[in-house]
Amino acid sequence: MLTARVVDPAVESFESLRGREFSRLDEQGHAYLDYTGSALYAESQLRAHHALLSGGIFGNPHSDSGPSRASTGIIDLARRRVLRFLGTDEQTHDVVFTANASAAIKLVAESYPFRPGRSLLLTADNHNSVNGIREYARRAGARVGILPLDADLRLSRPEAYLEAAPSGGGLFAFPAQSNFSGVRHSLLLVERARDLGFEVLLDAAAYVPSRALSLRHCPADFVALSFYKLFGYPTGLGALVARRESLSLLRRPWFAGGTVEYASVAADTYRLREGHEGFEDGTPSFLAIAALDAGFDLVERVGMCRISAHVASLTRLLLSGLGDLRHTDGAPLVWIHGPRSGDDRGGTVAFNVLDPRGRVLPYAEVEARARTRGVSLRGGCFCNPGASESAFGLGRERIEACLLKLEGGFTVERFGACLGTAVGAVRASVGLANVPEDVHRALDVVRSFRF
Ligand SMILES: Cc1ncc(COP(=O)(O)O)c(C=O)c1O
Repeated sequence: MLTARVVDPAVESFESLRGREFSRLDEQGHAYLDYTGSALYAESQLRAHHALLSGGIFGNPHSDSGPSRASTGIIDLARRRVLRFLGTDEQTHDVVFTANASAAIKLVAESYPFRPGRSLLLTADNHNSVNGIREYARRAGARVGILPLDADLRLSRPEAYLEAAPSGGGLFAFPAQSNFSGVRHSLLLVERARDLGFEVLLDAAAYVPSRALSLRHCPADFVALSFYKLFGYPTGLGALVARRESLSLLRRPWFAGGTVEYASVAADTYRLREGHEGFEDGTPSFLAIAALDAGFDLVERVGMCRISAHVASLTRLLLSGLGDLRHTDGAPLVWIHGPRSGDDRGGTVAFNVLDPRGRVLPYAEVEARARTRGVSLRGGCFCNPGASESAFGLGRERIEACLLKLEGGFTVERFGACLGTAVGAVRASVGLANVPEDVHRALDVVRSFRF
């Protein structure tokens, strides 16, 4: 039997979406491939936010006036929307609004009850905003362990490392998706680590822009994210999303405006509020929070499944294009860090451009040439030194020796010269607003280094 193919008129192509929501890119001839740095905002988000602000009267939510209640209403709705986006609700989870993902991570870092016997486990692949937790852990006498990466920059036997960790539990912190290699680490590790007595902090900053995360299925204790990475606007706003019982494990090192039930100067005492209120220092960014609805509307309108498929298809195009590039003598032009296939990875590809003898060209040269051609790439180690060290095969002794030698005069160039290798890569990352032409323009930049 023949069935008619139904074309849903509401399903808009990504080309059409780009023309409608991101026309500034083509008007300015720009190929933006730094989605892992920041997503781009759509015009509808700006219009919706502007309309909301120009039609409303919003006051400080800590007052109790009408405008104050209007702000509180917006914030409450936004909290529920964040939870819905993460496939959960207020029964089990709470949302603490923060300045960004780093601030969300720091809330856990400074409040987690580290002590000798309650350790910190990190993965070598982590943003520095997660690496920094180790300073709080060490100060409290906790041990710090690192799960290493394999040659593809995936975790090497992570279950074995988790099982070998000292008993007594602690905090295990890892990225759902690497901001260096794009690798998506297995979320099954969350449950495994919890079974072994760990609380888990999942850094979802690079994952959620192009992949659905359901906290019904992924029982992470704490999840950190930044909203500009998700839909470009607003900046200065992130969230710590936590299981309610996990949030109550944290012990805040101080109190601030907005966080207390009471505080007395004369009696030198205070009591923190329960839940998110005890973690949101000062006045929340209520006008920025008011912009979230339009961002989530955009993601919902397009659909996370379609965004994932779009990003995966552009990533495959990028990977195969880079992998095929050769110098005229047939020598590879590109060294790709991390997996070359599109499996279990997101839309972030780190690579170096090579000369015909296989030597790495400075990433800054590639970044600069891209810039002059209106292509946004990013160069460096992307605040992820562990993934970078694994990519370039740098071990502790070599790094320590060079850091010692350069003490007082460190520059990335001198560091690379001392190590005798590159210490940074080029990163191309794709998202909602990209079309295949952007990838081709990035490939053209790389091709221009061909000898
Ligand atoms: C994986 C990951 N974690 C954390 C962060 C920190 O995010 P923010 O700078 O918004 O605090 C980033 C930012 O690049 C990231 O990619």
